[in-house]
Amino acid sequence: MIEDPVLLNDWHPLAKSTDLDEASILPARLLNEDLVLWRIDGEVHVWQDLCVHRGTRLSLGSIDEEGRLVCAYHGWTYNSEGECVRFPAHPEQKPPGKAKVKTYRCEEKWGLIWACVGDGAREIPEFEEWSDPSFRKVACGPYRYRASGTRAVENFLDVAHLPFLHAGMLGDRSHAEIEDYDVEVKEEGIVARNVKIWQPDPDGTGVGKNVTYTYKVLRPLTMYLAKDTEQGRFSIFSTVCPASEFESIAWFWLAMNYGHDVPEVDLRSFQDKITNQDIPVVESQRPERLPLDLQAELHLRSDRIAVAYRRWLRSMGLTFGTA
Ligand code: FES
Ligand SMILES: [Fe+2]
Repeated sequence: MIEDPVLLNDWHPLAKSTDLDEASILPARLLNEDLVLWRIDGEVHVWQDLCVHRGTRLSLGSIDEEGRLVCAYHGWTYNSEGECVRFPAHPEQKPPGKAKVKTYRCEEKWGLIWACVGDGAREIPEFEEWSDPSFRKVACGPYRYRASGTRAVENFLDVAHLPFLHAGMLGDRSHAEIEDYDVEVKEEGIVARNVKIWQPDPDGTGVGKNVTYTYKVLRPLTMYLAKDTEQGRFSIFSTVCPASEFESIAWFWLAMNYGHDVPEVDLRSFQDKITNQDIPVVESQRPERLPLDLQAELHLRSDRIAVAYRRWLRSMGLTFGTA
């Protein structure tokens, strides 16, 4: 287990709820630990992916007719509390209390399965548009980065790359200037308002214009952005699972209160295209650990969100994937 109390005690996304059907099993990885997710009677269980007999992965197992998880190797059978209730080789023998798998807390929220391997005093971060029916929601991802989760999040918060890396889609090289914007840092997160950028077609009308973004850092690996145009609001709730120090998986929810006739597949493929432009750049960044010492790299006024993010991570003592 890693030594980073901030991430250990936080909630992390592991899968979309719809990826785990009733009576099915999924492997996952969080903070260097292999986990097994399984669902029975609608309830999700998140355990260490390790049978206490010979250390076989439980995610190779199956679910029996009584709704218990059965190890693939010798059939040790676990109830939903993680207690072994049956040794098939010795059916008359009652398993001892210590024949128990390590279980973790989990919750389903915003269409995702979240787990916490520590105390998790905090709540799962808010996604304002979720319960507002005027917003349609589209799930994107998972997107895999061979990079630190903090590098991936900093990329979501970076506005000055839009005219370059996403030229023709989210910006234009001849309109690359970034005006000053406001950043507010609080203990519970960061908000950047009035972030303006010129985009070639920000709202699907085909007309290029300035748009205004609001960015929020909700947790070290969860952020939110909203883009306001005359058509309405387009927002993204984005959360990253730190599978290991340099292996991260992101899920996005797009929410928009206009363009209800735009096919979901088009919205998703646009987002896939953007993220697939970002991933190789993020994976190329060195050092692999995000430098929290502001002297380590050069910063411009347009990098104010990233500077605030690095300071904020440093103030809370986050160490996994940072330097
Ligand atoms: S290793 Fe799981 S039952 Fe033997
Ligand atoms: Fe990007």
